[in-house]
Amino acid sequence: MESYEARMREKADALVRRGAAVILAVESSCDETAVAVVENGRIERANAIASQIDVHALYGGVVPEIASRMHVEAIDPLLDAALAQAGLSLQDVDAVAVTYGPGLVGALLTGVSWAKGLAYAADKPLIAVNHIEGHVSANYVAHPSLEPPFVCLVASGGHSHIVNVARYGQYELLGGTTDDAAGEAFDKVARVLGIPYPGGPLLDKLAEEGDDCAYHFPHPHTQGKYDFSFSGLKTAVINQAHKLRQQGQEIVAKDWAASFRRCVVDLLVEKTLAAALDTGARRVAVAGGVAANSLLRAELKRRGEAAGLEVFIPPKRLCTDNAVMIGAAGFYRLMAGEQAGLDLNALPALRMFGT
Ligand code: KG4
Ligand code: ZN
Repeated sequence: MESYEARMREKADALVRRGAAVILAVESSCDETAVAVVENGRIERANAIASQIDVHALYGGVVPEIASRMHVEAIDPLLDAALAQAGLSLQDVDAVAVTYGPGLVGALLTGVSWAKGLAYAADKPLIAVNHIEGHVSANYVAHPSLEPPFVCLVASGGHSHIVNVARYGQYELLGGTTDDAAGEAFDKVARVLGIPYPGGPLLDKLAEEGDDCAYHFPHPHTQGKYDFSFSGLKTAVINQAHKLRQQGQEIVAKDWAASFRRCVVDLLVEKTLAAALDTGARRVAVAGGVAANSLLRAELKRRGEAAGLEVFIPPKRLCTDNAVMIGAAGFYRLMAGEQAGLDLNALPALRMFGT
């Protein structure tokens, strides 16, 4: 009998010739388990998601062992939910896409092993997707007319990059953080204000009512023109809070949150727009959990459009971790002739730019 790999090569080639595919996608790199169905990289047919945030919040951050176990429990019911949402059976799906890195190794392995089993049992091609490329690709679902080239700011809990998306699947790193990710800085500063994990969304909400000129935080300098650094800023903000408290001064949390948010957003927007304008880009997009930040969304749009750029911002639910974005990225990988074997492994430190 012909091997699974050989059969899948033929199936994948047929899909490439057709230029169309319904993809079942799986995401389990951190604390969200998600299964989605995406048509032709653009149409969201189903988006099933189970968040573990409430459980990890008890510990003040993601506990990897708990994350893996919860993925195992959540994943089968999510498959049923996603197929039901899409009104499809497993046989109607053309291929299975899965996040294989970067992320927590145990969490990734749950999704990778499960996807391999599913692809083999259902006789479908398997596609390996980089989580960061997934975030960028959320824009293809959110904006059906968006095509490369464009410049994209990817800011999440673990990554902050400015990339030039030259073509589908072809990325050039223009700049990024030299230390902490933007989401990480939000989460750590939120903790100082007593905001539970993950602090980003709650700090954002609190900041809405605050005065963003109330406190002054340093704007960190970086070597690279499009790089940013959040570690120094985070430490300065945390030290300043401790100092004020030691002097018996109460910190006004909403003003503190607003001032910090303003500082981070200004940095992200300035560098992204500079990178876009200098490289002659006409379109700019944003992706990743931090792209759910209300001020970042508003400022990128306002300042980007004022600079003559077309600005693309996905809805918040496609900015934070989900499997729709994995299905979108997987489609373009499949169309580029890529396919994963059953020896696919989870790569926790996977990079997008070969450095
Ligand atoms: O992309 P994501 O869901 O997971 C990773 O791949 O890391 O990003 C999660 C990060 C967390 O640090 C979270 O605090 C941050 O995104 N985040 C926000 C907001 N929503 C999520 N940060 C600032 N403002 C928000 N509204
Ligand atoms: Zn993410």
